[in-house]
Amino acid sequence: MRKHDVVMEPPVPDFYRYGPDPIAFADWSGDTVVLHWHDGKRLSCHRFWLRENTFGYGGIDPATREGLMDPAELSDAMQMTSVSVTPAGDLRIVWQPDEQETRYHSGWLKHIAEGQHYPDSWLPKPQVWTADSLPNPPRRAAAPILDDDNALADMLNDLLCYGVCVVEQAPIEAGFLNQLASRIGPVRDSNFGALWDVKADVELAGDAKTNTTANTGFRLGPHTDLPTREVPPGFQFLHCLVNEADGGESTLTDGAALVQALKASQPEDYEILSTRRWIFFNRGPGIDHRFSAPIIDTLGREDIPTIRAFYPVRAFPDMPDNEVAGAYAALRRFHQLADDARFELTFRLGPGDIMCFDNRRILHGRKAFSGSGKRHLQGIYIDRDEIQSTARAVNRGQAAI
Ligand SMILES: [Fe+2]
Repeated sequence: MRKHDVVMEPPVPDFYRYGPDPIAFADWSGDTVVLHWHDGKRLSCHRFWLRENTFGYGGIDPATREGLMDPAELSDAMQMTSVSVTPAGDLRIVWQPDEQETRYHSGWLKHIAEGQHYPDSWLPKPQVWTADSLPNPPRRAAAPILDDDNALADMLNDLLCYGVCVVEQAPIEAGFLNQLASRIGPVRDSNFGALWDVKADVELAGDAKTNTTANTGFRLGPHTDLPTREVPPGFQFLHCLVNEADGGESTLTDGAALVQALKASQPEDYEILSTRRWIFFNRGPGIDHRFSAPIIDTLGREDIPTIRAFYPVRAFPDMPDNEVAGAYAALRRFHQLADDARFELTFRLGPGDIMCFDNRRILHGRKAFSGSGKRHLQGIYIDRDEIQSTARAVNRGQAAI
């Protein structure tokens, strides 16, 4: 039997399983019922919210467990005529105008009283790091991730906590990233393809045929990919297939640490970098991606900033003329800070290593190639929504066992 086939009584508006957590008593006043538990937790429930979340009776569809009630149908006639706690500790309500009795599972109500319905619940808190506090990225073996939810949870939790994880001992097979992605969620496509190659024979460095600086042997300073998009790809997975090149070490820098350092010691730079806009422009035959945004774009999350720092596609200032000089000065200092050894992890990717990181929070870079030898990496993007959804599901699943 799959977990979501377990019959809950009374049924709940999702596919999770809840243990009973009996309500101590319910206070009813006007439109609101306040539930109290013996441990002091309480939950305030508006009558319309209860109606929307009634299993059946026009509220929650038993098949999809989604809400059926169009807000236009909410009526003043939907009044509670009786509120009580059942002998099992569940909430019982009788509704006008038809005297319909409905019940609400005590454990489901309690998980809301405990805040487990918030987007951040079931996810690890982000931890800001520097080269001192995280001298090496966490490493996880590839094979267990493919069939063990504990191993998958460990990797996803590293990614959400530190923004970084190296999956090691992966098969040295082109396309393996699709197998890894099938454990996590849909791959995010772009004009570079769903699965893209970073491949440069040193003799091709600077080849005019390539459409991205990534496919040259040039140094790539700390950056994040695709700032030309309204919401850049969430996470990036780079699978090393061949690395015989002399040089080409990878670097990682926590953008959240840079933001913390800026706020503490260069608040004026932070103000400029988080408010003055630049136009990012992805030039290419037949494509015209562009977006205007600040270098530090919180996108609603101060603690996990979106850093738009890919200078190859930063094209035009989008600010009053008299602010451009100050914006360049702040930008220069920001990139110097991003390159500071205090913040930057440097390591060499070997065949079978997959460097996984939060593409919006973590700046990644590559030292220049020199000498001889080949280097071939494959990459995919998976959005943050998918990483978080799977992490919540596996973390919650593990907690329930
Ligand atoms: Fe990149």
